[in-house]
Amino acid sequence: MRPKLTHTPTPPANPDRAQQLTKRQYVRFAFYQIDPAWRRLPADQQIAHKHELMQTIKQFNRRMLLRPYSLMGTRADAEILLWQIAESPLPFQDLAAAIARTELGGYLKLTYSYFSQTKRSIYQIRPGHEDESEEERLVIDPSEAKYLFVYPFIKTRDWYQRSLLTRQGMMDEHVEVGRKYPSVRLNTTYSFGLDDYEFMLAFETDEPSDFLDLVQDLRETEASRYTLQDTPLFTCINMRLEEALDAIGGAPIAQPIEPGQLSESWVEVGTIADFAPNTARTVYLEGKMIGVFHVNDQFYAINNRCSHARGPLHEGAIDPAECSVVCPWHYGKFDLRTGQAIDGLVRRPVETYRVEIRDEILYVGTPVLEAIR
Ligand code: FES
Repeated sequence: MRPKLTHTPTPPANPDRAQQLTKRQYVRFAFYQIDPAWRRLPADQQIAHKHELMQTIKQFNRRMLLRPYSLMGTRADAEILLWQIAESPLPFQDLAAAIARTELGGYLKLTYSYFSQTKRSIYQIRPGHEDESEEERLVIDPSEAKYLFVYPFIKTRDWYQRSLLTRQGMMDEHVEVGRKYPSVRLNTTYSFGLDDYEFMLAFETDEPSDFLDLVQDLRETEASRYTLQDTPLFTCINMRLEEALDAIGGAPIAQPIEPGQLSESWVEVGTIADFAPNTARTVYLEGKMIGVFHVNDQFYAINNRCSHARGPLHEGAIDPAECSVVCPWHYGKFDLRTGQAIDGLVRRPVETYRVEIRDEILYVGTPVLEAIR
């Protein structure tokens, strides 16, 4: 049952608070293509290579949020995308080097690589749409959508010479068109000075035709006149890593999964002796950032992204007496045992995850509905 809301007075909102408090994330889109020579290797080698690469990539689940996608059948020059999100760029380099050292890595060519960072937009949300928080842009929280459309983006220099007010007007029109397609979710990140482009755009949706219609509609907006480059464009299909590897060819390794079948997935958090009381840590599990809390000699794991605007719950204030945490961005409060929203402006709960201690090591796990990935 939903706990009773107590409504402690909420401290006044500070629009810059989230940006001041929260580390911006680094984002990498790495596109790989397989050398056809690999497809002519004996089946036992192909299987061994796939398992080695799988294990190598999965070891990085503790250091970054990592989503695999397949581009087989959608693009000629890339077959796998690894979408990576981390608090520092260093894990990206470590992962790239680890992949290069594997047997299969010797046959993989990195055909495209994009590097960017999250940032709050300089444009304002129009009155009446305050439910959409620009603060959400500080953190990426991928959905389970089946398709991801990715492209780099550059504006003309003329765009930056227009006044902020003029650009705001054009962005308002742009946003209004986007609002007609609620099934399409946009993740914008920034590349100025980091890579050759200015922005990286990644649209998630289950309906590719909605994305097509959206892009066509956007061509008629005033802001479109200021687009210098918005290619190459990648159509990526969300799937499990073993399925994405099977899609490139060779002997298959993915086990068939019946619709509705559950499978377990666990990630190691660390030794319990090193986990100080009334503190929190984060790990990544199946493409989600999980906040793990040590409170009153118990361990609790919840989705680390606040259900209001993705605030980082592991950075919030822990109350052992209440077994709760207060989101650092706008002070929404959650029960760590149930994930329920119990105070402040939050209304929706956050997911809870299972915790287990094996040989003094703490693990977080979940039953995952594999059939949807
Ligand atoms: S992000 Fe607003 S209360 Fe958490």
